[in-house]
Amino acid sequence: MTTLLTTPVPTASGDLTLRHGAARVLLSNWTGSSTVPSHGLYPHQWSWDSAFIAIGLRHLSVRRAQRELEALTGAQWADGRIPHIVFNPATPLDAYFPSPDFWRSSCDGARAGAPAGTETSGIVQPPVHALAAWLVHRADPAESRRRRFLTRLYGRLASWHDYLTCPRDLGGGGLAAVVHPWEPGMDNSPCWDGPLRRVTPAAPGTYRRADLDHGQASERPTDLDYGRYVRLAADYRDGGYNDMSGRHAFAVEDPCVNALLIVSEHALARIAEETGQDPAPHRERAARLTSALIHRLWSPAEGMFLCRDLVADEPILERSIAGLVPLIVPGLPQHIVDALLQTAAGPRFRLGNVPMAPSYDLTGHAFDASRYWRGPAWFNINWLLHRGLRSYGQHAAAGQLRTAMLTAAGASGFAEYVDPFTAQARGTQNFGWTAALTLDLLADAGPAATSPAPGART
Ligand code: SER
Repeated sequence: MTTLLTTPVPTASGDLTLRHGAARVLLSNWTGSSTVPSHGLYPHQWSWDSAFIAIGLRHLSVRRAQRELEALTGAQWADGRIPHIVFNPATPLDAYFPSPDFWRSSCDGARAGAPAGTETSGIVQPPVHALAAWLVHRADPAESRRRRFLTRLYGRLASWHDYLTCPRDLGGGGLAAVVHPWEPGMDNSPCWDGPLRRVTPAAPGTYRRADLDHGQASERPTDLDYGRYVRLAADYRDGGYNDMSGRHAFAVEDPCVNALLIVSEHALARIAEETGQDPAPHRERAARLTSALIHRLWSPAEGMFLCRDLVADEPILERSIAGLVPLIVPGLPQHIVDALLQTAAGPRFRLGNVPMAPSYDLTGHAFDASRYWRGPAWFNINWLLHRGLRSYGQHAAAGQLRTAMLTAAGASGFAEYVDPFTAQARGTQNFGWTAALTLDLLADAGPAATSPAPGART
């Protein structure tokens, strides 16, 4: 039986209203075992959404936050991958595309180890899960130990990271690669425009976009991009979701994905320690990943990390917010931290001068203040930047960002994303991770509360 912590915390009345509003979204989006990002646009369980949602849900119900992660990792494939969508069988097939009959995971994914009794997608999303599991544990360690939460999750999380660092090291340089623009989560980033030009779109009449039933076309990917997403997903499926086939038309190393993997690997070391396992292999892997991230993706000329196109074997010369997210990685060389902070505050991202950091270079040729991942500001990414700023002692900038995010979350109706200049709502509303991370920011009032020094054990 889940107990919801509804006792108001002693805080300003605005914060209380915001807290109640955020809690209402999470309660409404809860399906009984997990949380939908949004009832209309995303009516199933999404992988990195669930991790961010668990991070906020722990402030409402630790038990529910645990169940969120248990449900997601319960659909893990035998090869270690955690699918980016776990389908709810009670949701009508036409409510979302690509639907279970497109992915056909239990059939076409069987050789890769897809579960027989649950339908999922066959691609992945960024690995926020070990970080989320650790934060959920820290919210109530006694309850976590009583339910053996981390003991049950440790093996699943370790094999998830094994999957990303072994079969997904497509470049052979020690980083995880993504094989579809949906995998890094920033579906429509201008970073993918070049690699996607190699992909022949699926014919328009062969599928129906359900996203346009719920979102404005001007805020969603174009039909041309969508056709390419469908083609890539269908080809991966038709190859049995085999990563070693060597046939990927799209293969990219992304700094945000790998930064999250590093932070989660550090969290896994703490989870190992807590559950009586050896943390050393995780610390060693986090150190190797950090070296590879710097070696392969750092651009001194740009003062940020760049994606790498593994098919063309060259860096992608587009500046997306993914290149600043490594600020969350502990123990970066000081010259890299300084450069990241300078780029964040500079003309391309204007952190401190706009409400929240945009998803793409404000001066970039492909910038669009409204369209999905081509400019709007996202709450999960800004939450990560807030965490990175705090970990490197930038408390004033972090405090300013926190205030701006809370203001934007409330004023936008917990929007999926916002215009980076005006913070006006874009995409859908009552969005799961926006509400969840609002709760997390409200619970995290200042540097004394949880500020981790790089590598600290929070
Ligand atoms: N984000 C993608 C969508 O819009 C897939 O996860 O459906």
